[in-house]
Amino acid sequence: MSTSPAATRTPLAELPAWKALATHAENVRGLHLRQLFQDDPGRGQRLVLDAAGIYLDYSKHRITDETLRLLLDLAEQSGLRERIDAMFTGEKINITEKRAVLHTALRAPKDAVIRVDGENVVPEVHEVLDRMAAFSDRIRSGAWKGHTGKTIKNVINIGIGGSDLGPVMAYEALRHYSRRDMVFRFVSNVDGTDFAEATQDLDAEETLFIISSKTFTTLETMTNAQTARAWSLETLKDPKAVAKHFVAVSTNAQEVEKFGIDTANMFGFWDWVGGRYSMDSAIGLSTMLAVGPENFRAMLAGFHEMDEHFRTAPFAKNLPVVMGLLSLWYNDFFDAQTVAVLPYDQYLKRFPAYLQQLTMESNGKHVTLSGERVGYNTGPIYWGEPGTNGQHSFYQLIHQGTRVIPCDFIGFSKTLNPLGNHHDLLMANVFAQTEALAFGKTPEEVKEEGTPDWLVPHRVFEGNRPSNTLLLDELTPEALGRLVALYEHAVFTQGVIWQIDSFDQWGVELGKVLAKRIVGELEGSESGKHDSSTTTLIDRYRQQRGQ
Ligand code: F6P
Repeated sequence: MSTSPAATRTPLAELPAWKALATHAENVRGLHLRQLFQDDPGRGQRLVLDAAGIYLDYSKHRITDETLRLLLDLAEQSGLRERIDAMFTGEKINITEKRAVLHTALRAPKDAVIRVDGENVVPEVHEVLDRMAAFSDRIRSGAWKGHTGKTIKNVINIGIGGSDLGPVMAYEALRHYSRRDMVFRFVSNVDGTDFAEATQDLDAEETLFIISSKTFTTLETMTNAQTARAWSLETLKDPKAVAKHFVAVSTNAQEVEKFGIDTANMFGFWDWVGGRYSMDSAIGLSTMLAVGPENFRAMLAGFHEMDEHFRTAPFAKNLPVVMGLLSLWYNDFFDAQTVAVLPYDQYLKRFPAYLQQLTMESNGKHVTLSGERVGYNTGPIYWGEPGTNGQHSFYQLIHQGTRVIPCDFIGFSKTLNPLGNHHDLLMANVFAQTEALAFGKTPEEVKEEGTPDWLVPHRVFEGNRPSNTLLLDELTPEALGRLVALYEHAVFTQGVIWQIDSFDQWGVELGKVLAKRIVGELEGSESGKHDSSTTTLIDRYRQQRGQ
């Protein structure tokens, strides 16, 4: 019988800091932020971090100095320092897939040395980056021509999950820096509508497809890629046109070749880059095409700055560690089910969606590294919308609902689109929301406003609702890199403490396998054995389609 390669660890619930936190949580549960600020008026200057270009105010959390001390002890007792070193030095910490986890190598400077199985991977990383840059320059300058001699004006990235969410998010986030005379679109869903709508107004002679897939076997991506090929050839007629209108981003050269894309037009990456950690690898080719190599490299520099901060800063001053611990505090000791991410910048409209994969595919696990069922909550549900839209939608529940929902407010001091007083209005809402959530409005205050007694309970805001405020200077490529790396490492911090493998994703497999089986039945050739619900649904679908 084979055994798990996981090192033996003291179970989380047996760590002294975990036990102490459980007792401590009961003692502080009744504390109100009003009281905490009254007792310590300087709290708002004290409980802040200002590093790697990000100012984090975490004073509006239901914590005391003791809470923080215990959380930091928990990080120490969980061996976080040793795990950080293991990740950065290329140890195979993704034990269920026997892989190193080295997205940090993607943004390492040229002279860094990071070894996987004895090989320094940094030169390869830079070689791919240089090839991407040369290709981007040719497309952006018009030197690269399509099959009929026309310049490429449209770029469509076809990919899903990590091969889509990062590129879409980064394109939207950095739109200000992007080529406005080019069209960038993203096709991910196997729903034909996605492809049809993305291409309906485009000319195939001017369109380049980037087929982005780590494995180059993903059903959705391969289906869309075949459709794209057929769509291109309908206009271009000649199969040789594929060489001018298709490039691939993948780790699987064999499958790329089988698809008919010349591997000279393939940009590689490596099995030590997880899909959801790949936006700064060649998967970011569409981002580079949109914003140019220089801006892409600036984004990488931002990532690297946060990597270095995470790797070297003491835990008490470490942004990802502190953020990871604070969210764990509510998740495990207040039974909070979710975290709301609320970017007050329209360019970050896809940031919550991006974070959903990063956080939930990483930490949505119910067994420990050694395969035992955990006895505590792991990854919370991430969700959110850009402010101020969310305020007119779901904030009601955050303010007056029955659940604790820790919130991350993200704002910028400077706007990229200075229009009248828009930015002050926007940011006034950030500050007002976090203030209202923390301090609320007492019955006395409501009464003083002349509210009739019967209406008072409805107008009371209990407050004591926790939030982080992340304040950055301006949404530059560097800032985006720092922000994404901040969340990547906060997720890692939590995964280490929960003793789970944050880098595999077995949970998405079963649905994929079953769907493949059912496709045959929908196409009429096979009939499968299912439960009565699934069978009836399949029968009804077939009947309605006249099958
Ligand atoms: O959804 C599962 C998953 O494996 C993700 O982790 C990954 O980002 C996505 O599918 C796409 O995979 P690929 O890049 O191999 O097409």
